[in-house]
Parts: sequence; C-alpha cells; structure tokens
Amino acid sequence: MPTRSGKADAPPRAERFRLHHLLAISDLKREDADHLLARAEPYVSFLEQKSKKLDALRGRTQINLFFESSTRTQASFELAGKRMGADVVNMSVRTSSVSKGETLIDTAATLNAMSPDLLVVRHPSSGAAALLARKVSCSVINAGDGQHEHPTQALLDAFTIRQRLGTLEGVEIAICGDVMHSRVARSNALLLTLLGASVRLVGPPTLMPADADRWGARVHHDMKSGIAGADVVMMLRLQTERMQGGYVPSAREFFWFYGLDEDKLKHAKPGALVMHPGPMNRGVEIDSAVADRVDVSLIERQVRMGVAIRMAVLEALAEHGANA
Ligand code: CP
Repeated sequence: MPTRSGKADAPPRAERFRLHHLLAISDLKREDADHLLARAEPYVSFLEQKSKKLDALRGRTQINLFFESSTRTQASFELAGKRMGADVVNMSVRTSSVSKGETLIDTAATLNAMSPDLLVVRHPSSGAAALLARKVSCSVINAGDGQHEHPTQALLDAFTIRQRLGTLEGVEIAICGDVMHSRVARSNALLLTLLGASVRLVGPPTLMPADADRWGARVHHDMKSGIAGADVVMMLRLQTERMQGGYVPSAREFFWFYGLDEDKLKHAKPGALVMHPGPMNRGVEIDSAVADRVDVSLIERQVRMGVAIRMAVLEALAEHGANA
C-alpha cells in the first residue's frame, strides 16, 4: 500500500544473503536459492499495485552493461532497479567505448572508478562475468555469459513453476531443443534439480552437450518419449548465432522432430505447462498454437516474474555489500 509520502510499503525482509556476486547457479546452495525465491515472493503482489516505488536501493548505483542484445533481461533489470529506487545506468556495446576497441578489463576498471554498487553484465563469452567480478569492487550479476549460465533466468523460471504448482519437489520438467548452446538450459537443470525437481534434457545428439549427464538430468533424443508424462515442457531457442556448421539439417526438419506442437504436447501430462525463456522462434522450436494457449502457456508470466526475481537479487546483493 502507498504511504503518505507516496512511497509503497517495503515488503518484509528475509535474512541476509550469503554471496557478494550472482555469477552462476552452480555457486548456489539450496539455502541461497530458497532465500532469493522467498525474497521475490512479496514483490509479485507489490508489482500489481498502482504505486511501484520502493527506496530499498535509494542512493545505490546500478550499471547494466550489455555486450549482447537483450529485450527481457535488460528491460527487467532496469525496471527492477528503478522500482527499488536505485540510480540505473544502461550501457550497450554499441554506445560504449568498447566499440572503439576498449577491452573488457579496461571497461570494468573505468566503471569501477565511478563506484557503482551493482554491475549487471551480459557478454558473449563464457566466464566474462566471473572475470569482471575479480576486477571490480561492487557486486556483479551475470545476465548471461556465452553458453555458460543465465542464473536470473533460471531463478525466474523456478519461481514461475513454484508459483503455479506450489512446489518443485518431484515435478517432472523436460527441457527441450538446443541444449548445447543454451545457458538457460544449464542454469535451469542445475537449479531445478537443486530444488527437488526431476529434469530431463531432450534434443538431437548434435545439440546435446558432452557433459549433459553431469547436469543431474536424464538425456533423451526422442521428443515424444522425452516429454512423456512431464508436468512442464520448457522449450529452448535454436541459437543459430552460436552455431558454426550444420547442427540441424534445416529449421523445418528441426520443427518436425523437436518443435513443440499440439500433437507432441499430448504426450506430456494432461494440462502440462509450457515455458520458453524467449525470444521465441515461432514455427522453429514452438508452434504459435501452443505458445499462445492461455490455459497452459507460462511464457508471459515468466517475463512478469522476472522483475520480481531481479528486484530480490538486486536487493539481496546490495544488502550484502552494505554489510560486508
Ligand atoms: N530470456 C532472455 O534472456 O531474453 P533476452 O535475450 O531478451 O534478454
């Protein structure tokens, strides 16, 4: 509810977060994941209020540094920071001196000299966020590094499923498509298993990473048997920008074997939920008739939950930094 000052009441605080950075789901213990999901909970209803302004991060500076294109992640980190009262600066590679040849390390040192509190970074190279974290004094949040990890996407996906089903314990989740090039798949497989779900990875052998068996998931190469009885079918984008050579014969053939349409979805549990991190390639990995089904598709809800999760992550790291 808005107060007399026009500001909304802050939702109740959870206990202190353990980590200074959020670089990878593989760094999280169960208690860390539970902490962030619990912290996001009150923000769901808060974000439905007319007044959406808190001052938990007033006086803090958040820099969003995106070396790769983004719609959802960048916009929701910006909104999340502003909702929390932070001063938010957006930088993209096209408008920064990176386009004049400045290195990632020099860019980090330059930004660090301006004393930000939070640095949100997306980069095409795996490990870029971890490298930055060693060079700056503020908290770094990985907003997607190459094929490695996209931790806030996994957190918002887990949060969305838990909100809908009430739990993740024992939930059967099939992550399908271009697993090999997907940081979303890796982060989700690690987080969902950490939270008690049972995860299957489904895709052609050419798009399955060699170490997939170490992700705590079962591997399937046939779509219909791979999603059989699943509670949730999470589709992945076919990431042609990360492919050098012919991983799939054609988009049309990929859709025939692995694209989610009504016919394949019938093999999952009746009423199975459908997810996609976006951006979607309609008619390549997912059919519009499935993506737009209001009864089972969580795709829009995933985007909404992204703001709540990112508010929680920014707040948790800023609080950690303040107490360090
Ligand atoms: N899901 C996701 O990371 O989308 P964007 O690339 O639009 O940020």
